[in-house]
Amino acid sequence: MATAELRSPHGIRYETHPDVYDPHDDTWLLVDAIDVGKGERFLEVGCGAGLAGIQAARSGARVLATDRNPHAVGLARRNARLNEVRIEVARADLLAGIRRGRFDAVAFNPPYLPTAPDEHVPGRLDAALSGGHTGRAVTERFLDEARDGGIRRAWVVGSSLAEPPTLVQVAKDRGFRARAVSSKRLSFETLTVYDLFAR
Ligand SMILES: C[S@@+](CC[C@H](N)C(=O)[O-])C[C@H]1O[C@@H](n2cnc3c(N)ncnc32)[C@H](O)[C@@H]1O
Repeated sequence: MATAELRSPHGIRYETHPDVYDPHDDTWLLVDAIDVGKGERFLEVGCGAGLAGIQAARSGARVLATDRNPHAVGLARRNARLNEVRIEVARADLLAGIRRGRFDAVAFNPPYLPTAPDEHVPGRLDAALSGGHTGRAVTERFLDEARDGGIRRAWVVGSSLAEPPTLVQVAKDRGFRARAVSSKRLSFETLTVYDLFAR
């Protein structure tokens, strides 16, 4: 049920799927921020259509892309083939089952919308959007798992809708140094990509 082929601002070819998050401004910001070299091991958590992983693979990184949504897993595999890059794609809940120390860098564009219990979107897209009542529920769980899993570097997308506290503070509380590397102001929120290093 994939759509006609599209092209990202970075020239990545991709299809979409009605049950998978459509690449958007947050996706482009994350793709722009990724800075990995040839042979580095890169993990994209919550890959959706897989564009960040594809971008890393275009730079020569060895990529694993994961998502809890099985439609995203299928779509990311298809999009990797469209771009003639090899990435491994698997279904996973955040970092569950990911071997400690296996990756040089991780990227995650989490669901970050503050969401009341009666606001949920039906179907698979809810997991792409709902960040719990603070907007930070999935981000905070990811950072806890990243700290416990020995992740040294991560790029994470945050939204002003899920602040305060900022992601810099939330990351600091878990032992990461974080700095904003890019941001984009939209009509109702400001999106920022943070570069996190384990301290
Ligand atoms: C905002 S979308 C971003 C998708 C894609 N990375 C992008 O930038 O276009 C968030 C993604 O995270 C996935 N996700 C949400 N919770 C997750 C979890 N606990 N484990 C794995 N993936 C999750 C969703 O299914 C969705 O694909």
